[in-house]
Amino acid sequence: MEKFFYKLNRQCGYLNTHCLDHFIAEKSFSNIIHGFNIEKIEKTLWKKEIVLHEIDKNFPIKDVVIIYMEPNKCYKWHRDRYRLSTINLLLSANESSYTLFSENYDNDEDQSNISRLKYEPNCFYVFNTQEIHTVMNFSQPRYMISCQFNDAATSDYQSVKEYCKVIGI
Ligand SMILES: [Fe+2]
Repeated sequence: MEKFFYKLNRQCGYLNTHCLDHFIAEKSFSNIIHGFNIEKIEKTLWKKEIVLHEIDKNFPIKDVVIIYMEPNKCYKWHRDRYRLSTINLLLSANESSYTLFSENYDNDEDQSNISRLKYEPNCFYVFNTQEIHTVMNFSQPRYMISCQFNDAATSDYQSVKEYCKVIGI
C-alpha cells in the first residue's frame, strides 16, 4: 500500500480543531478549482501545524486548502493533473467516505483491483496523486485538508515521503 499513500507519525495538533470549531462554519466553499469546492487556509494558520511547517522547509507549500464534498457524490477515477503528490488530512468522519486507489483501472474493463486508504483521525498522509484514485462520499459532508506545493515537478510522492521519514515526522 505504500506505493499509494504513507501515514505520517506525527499527528495533527492544531488545524483539526481549529477548522472544525471556526473555519468550516464561516466559509461558503463556493470557489471551484480543478473541479473541487475549495477554501484556502491562511498561511499564518497552517504554519502553526508542525507537520506542514516542517515539510514546507524542504518542499515549499503554495496553498493549504479545505476541500468540501457534498453527500452522495463521487469523483471520477483520475490522476491529478496539477500536482504529483499532496499531504492529506480528513477532517470529517471516516466511515462516511471511501478513498480508493487502483493499480489496473481501465474504463473498458468490467473489473479492477482496488485498495482503500482508510483515514485515521488526526493523521496526515502523503498521498500519491499519480496513482489512479477516486473518492465516494455517502451521507455526510466531507472535509479534507490538502495542499499544493510551489514546485510541482520536484514534489513527487517518493521525494516527499522519504523526506518525511528522514526528519521523523
Ligand atoms: Fe485526486
